[in-house]
Amino acid sequence: MTIAVTRADNTAPPLAGWPLPAARYSAANRATLTCPAAAAMLATPQLLSLITTRSATMRRFENKVVLVTGAGSGIGQGSALRIAAEGGSLFCVDLDQASAEGTAQQIRDAGGEATAHACDVSNEQQVIDCVAACVAHYGSLYAVINMAGILRFDDTREIELGKWQKVLDVNVTGTMLFCREALPHLIDSGGSIVNAASTAALAGLPCGTAYSASKGAVLAMTRSIAIDFAKQGVRANCVCPGDINSGMTEGIEWPATMDFDLMPRIVSISGAKGPEAISGVIAMLASEDAIHITGEDIRVDGGTLS
Ligand SMILES: NC(=O)c1ccc[n+]([C@@H]2O[C@H](COP(=O)([O-])OP(=O)(O)OC[C@H]3O[C@@H](n4cnc5c(N)ncnc54)[C@H](O)[C@@H]3O)[C@@H](O)[C@H]2O)c1
Repeated sequence: MTIAVTRADNTAPPLAGWPLPAARYSAANRATLTCPAAAAMLATPQLLSLITTRSATMRRFENKVVLVTGAGSGIGQGSALRIAAEGGSLFCVDLDQASAEGTAQQIRDAGGEATAHACDVSNEQQVIDCVAACVAHYGSLYAVINMAGILRFDDTREIELGKWQKVLDVNVTGTMLFCREALPHLIDSGGSIVNAASTAALAGLPCGTAYSASKGAVLAMTRSIAIDFAKQGVRANCVCPGDINSGMTEGIEWPATMDFDLMPRIVSISGAKGPEAISGVIAMLASEDAIHITGEDIRVDGGTLS
């Protein structure tokens, strides 16, 4: 299988040492090429096989219900597959009903338990209904994995308020709404939250004003929730991914003023990895293996910020 990806034309400087990420960048003038290596990383059968093989001996989510947002693609999908492979019952949530159903179907095909649910995480009523539907269906909720998110790059001098607001609505408000609605159930189950922050929350991301603001907010919000609910037995942690191949990292649009000399702040030293490179970390944080970890963030970026 090959997929079409876009890259910057020759006006962007070559990125020596990072041939795969270079194939993902796009600028005003774009050329298309096929990138079989990236396609292989995103190909679901291989991902499912990797994830099930790695988790073959672990059953940390037996009899536990886990809700994953952004479950239709990338890291959310990888997390749902991993947790299902460890025995969890998955409530797969995504804006895109078909992709959520695709992930749930893969889990059921592999002998697991999963339900798909369409929800815009930035819509308060839809989130209220979503968490209620999960608890009505499965009777409890043990963990919420907030992976739904959107990315955009802007020259700060040109940010449109509506686009800035959309990033905050999905990445920050969406995460907060799921935490808010889930917390009463997580207190009942002694469960946990894993939120998607980013390396953008830890260091400057070129042209990342809106995205960085949103991920910094997720990181700070998670720490606050962690201390507020620690005595009630609920943990809240973040992952800070970097350079994970996913739907989000395909066909990125850069502003014309993007300084490509800053790309080493984004791409990993060892090359991009697929969602299986982070799904085990997310499963660990959600599980009782992390019973004494809360308010923490784990950077999974192949050494980008090391
Ligand atoms: N891939 C990376 O390198 C990377 C780096 C840092 C942070 N992250 C974060 O990890 C998380 C997962 O990203 P990914 O890389 O898997 O991206 P992805 O685009 O593959 O997956 C994101 C999913 O979120 C869903 N989504 C978007 N808006 C939504 C909405 N309003 N309501 C419900 N669902 C919505 C999309 O449909 C998609 O399925 C995101 O929060 C992202 O910001 C990813």
